[in-house]
Amino acid sequence: MSLSKEQKSILITGGAGFIGSNFVHHWSNHYPDDNVIVLDALTYAGNRQNLVDLEDRQNFKFIQGDICDRPLIDKLLKEENITTLAHFAAESHVDRSILGPDAFIQTNVIGTFTLLESFRHYWNEQGKPEDYRFLHVSTDEVYGSLEADDPAFSETTPYAPNSPYSASKAGSDHLARAYFHTYNVPTIITNCSNNYGPYHFPEKLIPLMCINILLGKPLPVYGDGQNIRDWLYVGDHCSALETVINKGKPGETYNIGGNNEVKNIDLVTLLCNLMDELAPDLPVKPAKELITFVKDRPGHDRRYAIDATKIKTELGWTPQETVENGLRKTIEWYLNNQDWWQHLLSKEYQDYYQKVYG
Ligand code: NAD
Ligand code: TYD
Repeated sequence: MSLSKEQKSILITGGAGFIGSNFVHHWSNHYPDDNVIVLDALTYAGNRQNLVDLEDRQNFKFIQGDICDRPLIDKLLKEENITTLAHFAAESHVDRSILGPDAFIQTNVIGTFTLLESFRHYWNEQGKPEDYRFLHVSTDEVYGSLEADDPAFSETTPYAPNSPYSASKAGSDHLARAYFHTYNVPTIITNCSNNYGPYHFPEKLIPLMCINILLGKPLPVYGDGQNIRDWLYVGDHCSALETVINKGKPGETYNIGGNNEVKNIDLVTLLCNLMDELAPDLPVKPAKELITFVKDRPGHDRRYAIDATKIKTELGWTPQETVENGLRKTIEWYLNNQDWWQHLLSKEYQDYYQKVYG
């Protein structure tokens, strides 16, 4: 198979997860002639259903496999003539990393290392093409926790991860950085703030609250509810990643954020009010009566905030969505896709829920 100069063959790891599947849709819609290959192990967080509308496309392929499987990665890069690797696959939930950190080290550190090693050899064998890219998708949590008056995280903020999740992502970021500096492998790192939107697994704050409101279950707010997150609609994250792949400079890091700092309690209250307005026949109304303060998460980071000046000034990217509008779209998606999330409330999920919330 030969590709025209403009065409890409893109390998998307973790493409059956939340952000990965949004990105697969985004890329397939914007570049319908590109080959899109998804590699995903389909852990509890991966869902083939997220990609069902793409399955019939000729230039779309789904491969179930582990990013730690070096022979599989070597084979895939060669056979599919990969020009861009967009790496989303990860264990991604802080509370699960507190319950059991092993999988986080395995996938996030060893898995990323395996991909980098394989890509390094492949890129060398291809004659080190200048336009190949290894995009490493990471999080703002590697920077640690901010006090109320601290400036937002910039690309030069020192790393200070506090959870096994963020520590494993920090380790993978350092490897991606080192592969550029040592071997010139064209890696680019992005560190993004909290995402929300369609296909978000029920364990995370926003989908958990939406679903619990629909089921009339308590809304567990950790600690005093004053922790702050900087929320970004997932579609905006996807457009930022597209910009970084097309215009970003190898060896660079770009912070991505929505400039939307909100206290958890304010976000949950806004969600309750929007659900009262948008959802018919709620079991408990007003939904905010369900808000329950519960024991805090161990080591709970107080505040995250992203300074996204660099990606704006150097690459011309800005987010489009406001929190309220993004939340409306998200709620409507969860209302219209009840089969999707009902299916995920499995025994495994109930056991997990029991462990975290008692
Ligand atoms: P997710 O948990 O929804 O999806 C992760 C996907 O990776 C799943 O489909 C899972 O099956 C797959 N996967 C896990 N282990 C694998 C392995 N060993 N081999 C192959 N596939 C494997 O996560 P997400 O929220 O979509 O996050 C995607 C990426 O974005 C992660 O790297 C995460 O650190 C980063 N990120 C997430 C957020 C956020 O708010 N969710 C914010 C910033 C950055
Ligand atoms: P989460 O969605 O788990 O993302 P992260 O921990 O990666 O930022 O949580 C977002 C915020 O919401 C975080 O401060 C923890 C808080 N939270 C709750 O208060 N209750 C919950 O049930 C969950 C899942 C999160």
